[in-house]
Amino acid sequence: MFDLVIEGRVIREGSLHDAAICIEEGVIKEIRNTATSSSGERDDLGRLLLLPGLIDTHVHFRDPGHTAKEDFSTGTASAAFGGVTTVLDMPNNSPPIRDIRSFAEKSVDVRSKAHIDHGLYMGLDEGSSAEELIACLLGGDRSARPCAFKAFLGESTGSLSFGPIGGLSAWTSLLSGTGSVLAIHAEDDSLFSKAAAGEADPDILDRHDRRRPPAAEASALRQALKAVGPASQSLHVLHVSSEEGLGAVRGSGCTLEATPHHLLLDIKWGERSLENQAMCKVNPPLRRTLDRAALWKALLDGTISTLGSDHAPHLPSEKERGILSPSGIPGVETMGPLMLQKVKERKLPLERFMELLSEAPAKRFSMPGKGALKPGMDADIVVIDPSFSKRIRSEDLHSRCGWTPYEGFEGVFPIRTYSRGELIVENDVLCSKGGRGRNLFI
Ligand code: DOR
Ligand code: ZN
Repeated sequence: MFDLVIEGRVIREGSLHDAAICIEEGVIKEIRNTATSSSGERDDLGRLLLLPGLIDTHVHFRDPGHTAKEDFSTGTASAAFGGVTTVLDMPNNSPPIRDIRSFAEKSVDVRSKAHIDHGLYMGLDEGSSAEELIACLLGGDRSARPCAFKAFLGESTGSLSFGPIGGLSAWTSLLSGTGSVLAIHAEDDSLFSKAAAGEADPDILDRHDRRRPPAAEASALRQALKAVGPASQSLHVLHVSSEEGLGAVRGSGCTLEATPHHLLLDIKWGERSLENQAMCKVNPPLRRTLDRAALWKALLDGTISTLGSDHAPHLPSEKERGILSPSGIPGVETMGPLMLQKVKERKLPLERFMELLSEAPAKRFSMPGKGALKPGMDADIVVIDPSFSKRIRSEDLHSRCGWTPYEGFEGVFPIRTYSRGELIVENDVLCSKGGRGRNLFI
């Protein structure tokens, strides 16, 4: 007798199988091959596909600080509508999350709003204290335990700035042996071109790419790898964006993340709509077609191991300032559907999709109950019809920021999302209450 049995089809060893996923107290107890007689509740989803819940290891939910753009409730609800059942939230809040006190306050507050499970990053900046880092990782009090650390190696949204890249070595030495990840935003701001700022050129995306060129990404990556030496396994490179950036890390032991926007959009996107180019201003910038091709190759051959949405909501009104608009693109709800569309178009094998969005992030960030449909794992399950796409429209999405750069793109959206055996989204309806999501690290 189980609390719930979900019936549908699963992928196992490359082929589809009928399955009955038997759940007790939110955990998968057994997966049977055929329908099972059970006196508990039964959700028969026929021939629909059951996938492990998606993990987005890179979101900016603006809570605390800028909750008019997003808060933890709207952000995690939006995630659930896109099949995401775990998010890791970035520390460039206001105030920035850079010490035990700000971390603990944020974690209590966001937990009361969360629809899904989550972890929180701790920011590292020039004033970060090694004693605090050791205390929050190894101390008996888990209330400030982060999912990982984040260093902005170049200037971007918010006030967190790491300072000289050579300083990374001290932090990776401290982290070695703890299994903890140091995630880096790799852009060397000494190579940003100042000259172009303030010019009246309307071609914002091209100009932004030239202001923060691939050479700046590659330079930051080379310096980071040189600084950390054999500890490169601690480094997780966020949003690698260019062929040059990929070249700089080839053969090193660090892991790489790519974003849907660097894979699906490029500076040519601006030709669709010159007025709205600032919507797609993001750091690191959208690049050229050749860079996108290099990213796709690296995604398929395993060089890139995780996908993160880098969901960075800004309001449409803030994006009306041309080149001076804030950088960032929302995407937590559209990442899974857009990539499943690529599966449908046969550009991405379904197994690779599951590795990138479930299995690999769970392993890299040490989330043992997540990432696969197997006995003993949390019953985080996304139900899809892999042959059914929907046209994306801003008004159908759930982020508070209210817009998407993927207007008109096709996406395969979940029909249901379960988190730990609880149905939290069914079609267009949010069934859960905020506050049920758990911090997986504390
Ligand atoms: O474009 C970006 N937006 N890049 C970042 O590094 C931060 C993000 C944000 O928080 O807005
Ligand atoms: Zn980011």
